[in-house]
Amino acid sequence: MWRATVLTIFPDIFPGPLSASLAGKALTAGAWSLDVVDIRTFATDKHRTVDDTPAGGGPGMVMKPDVLGRAIDATGTDNRPRLLLSPRGTPLTQARVEALAAGPGAVLVCGRFEGVDERVIGARGLEEVSIGDYVLSGGEIAAMVLIDACVRLRPGVMGDEASRAEESFTEGLLEYPQYTRPQVWEGQPIPDILTSGDHGKVAAWRRAEAEGLTKERRPDLWTAFLRRFRSGAAG
Ligand SMILES: C[S@@+](CC[C@H](N)C(=O)[O-])C[C@H]1O[C@@H](n2cnc3c(N)ncnc32)[C@H](O)[C@@H]1O
Repeated sequence: MWRATVLTIFPDIFPGPLSASLAGKALTAGAWSLDVVDIRTFATDKHRTVDDTPAGGGPGMVMKPDVLGRAIDATGTDNRPRLLLSPRGTPLTQARVEALAAGPGAVLVCGRFEGVDERVIGARGLEEVSIGDYVLSGGEIAAMVLIDACVRLRPGVMGDEASRAEESFTEGLLEYPQYTRPQVWEGQPIPDILTSGDHGKVAAWRRAEAEGLTKERRPDLWTAFLRRFRSGAAG
């Protein structure tokens, strides 16, 4: 079973949207598990303090290493990666999601305030992971994003496993445009080729659309795709 352990000062946020749809059904069915650890329960003072002012001055507060360290230690030792959601982290990609989904799960530390004391990151071997180049108010939503992306790849969670093979990023390309009935909507017909019944032509059209969209919208992905294609790894 794929196991997610989330450390947070807002445990009530979970499972939140993870209780709906595919991830929620899979959670209920026992295809993955979610343990939520309230970091505040590892504080020792009567106010259950988890943060303090930044050394050197400056705005905001910093999560205390002693409290967070105890919370992390309470998750035990196993071979799951310990990830700290952080805007400074390595950007999360579909390739990383696939690798995480194929593993035993993850321990996810959600930061708040200005972030966490640097010493606990090194001392507990936390790997910083970002979900994008913008700043959220806390790591909880980022943790949900990561968990959702992983859980949907677990065996049996998605209804049609074939859909996974064709979706954005799987081959390094964005997905082709999708259509469904009605045949004509607001004067716009579905492209003829998609209703031609010629599977070869449909596949070729989709491939060309996927390549065109990727080239236009994501030159970074397109360059990486071409590099892999030329070295024989894609196509
Ligand atoms: C307000 S942010 C702290 C931002 C930090 N002062 C900085 O400039 O890098 C509070 C917490 O939200 C989470 N967070 C914010 N943006 C994120 C992102 N893009 N990806 C992952 N986690 C993020 C992290 O856990 C972070 O510790």
